Amino acid sequence: MNFLGTHILSIDQFDTQDVEALFAVADQMQPYAQRKLKTRVLEGAILGSLFFEPSTRTRISFGCAFNLLGGQVRETTEIKASALAKGESLYDTARVISGYSDIIAMRHPMAGSVEEFSKASRVPVINAGDGAAEHPSQALLDLYTIKKELNISGEIDGLNIALVGDLKNGRTVHSLCKLLKLYKNISFTLISPIELKMPEEIIEELRKAGHQINETEDMQTGLHDKHTIYLTRIQEERFSSQQEANIYRGRFRLNQSTYTTHCQPNTVIMHPLPRDSRAEANELDNDLNQHPNLAIFRQADNGVLIRMALFALTLGVEKELHNTSSDVNWYTDRRF
Ligand code: NCD
Repeated sequence: MNFLGTHILSIDQFDTQDVEALFAVADQMQPYAQRKLKTRVLEGAILGSLFFEPSTRTRISFGCAFNLLGGQVRETTEIKASALAKGESLYDTARVISGYSDIIAMRHPMAGSVEEFSKASRVPVINAGDGAAEHPSQALLDLYTIKKELNISGEIDGLNIALVGDLKNGRTVHSLCKLLKLYKNISFTLISPIELKMPEEIIEELRKAGHQINETEDMQTGLHDKHTIYLTRIQEERFSSQQEANIYRGRFRLNQSTYTTHCQPNTVIMHPLPRDSRAEANELDNDLNQHPNLAIFRQADNGVLIRMALFALTLGVEKELHNTSSDVNWYTDRRF
């Protein structure tokens, strides 16, 4: 695809060459994200950041990514703090905000809403999560992380991955499956309560593309021989009540003892975060916090690189980063 001026709404827009091009730009963002250098390449540009659903990492990392390229961020959070609460349509909001911004990142509880918004937007829109449907920048940072953690420089053909948890409502796993589908011979073990299984259309697409699918409710066997385990939270906001979500909380948990007993010693542990650390959920235990294969915080860090790369490519400045780069003059040592 030609990234320039393009809305990034779904992983369906990508092929493997696009992914490679994006990752090459993300690699170049490393010195800026690590505060070794600064760049002003987007000086004067404005990101409209519209998060109509709770978010910590996605919202802040989109904002930081834009700031690190020299641009500024204007944001609104929550529907009740915006004119949508007064009955304004997505169309009107898009017409207005796209007049104020050079690019927009948007999250909204309704599947398809970001696409609807993008149709009225005069500037590129990046889908930062639309209901249970998709979260393309997360899938891209997940794949980038998988490659880095497993030290794979080429294609990730032959990957053996387990996806665990709420696979019905988790938009990150939907986008990740669509992304992995582009490669060859991926073995997917889908571990979830039967009621929260991966949507059949996604499974069909994966099967048609020649991948192996194993669906199970037996976590312990499902964890064997995996290069990567990707855990997810029960998406309580998609259930009709807390009580209904409670039925599934805590069903699948990874802790040090489960990991040591059932996983390969080098299996990489991932989670899009937030992990639900309340006692009744705790799908990924704190006792793995010091484990060298726990990639979750490196994964979150990679979000900044991927989002910087998406901005640079959609705004056409990917070749000019270094023209405006200079040293940083504040204390930048990271403790760990
Ligand atoms: C995810 C999301 O919002 O879909 N979080 C994120 O963006 N990293 C996952 C989740 O909320 O469980």
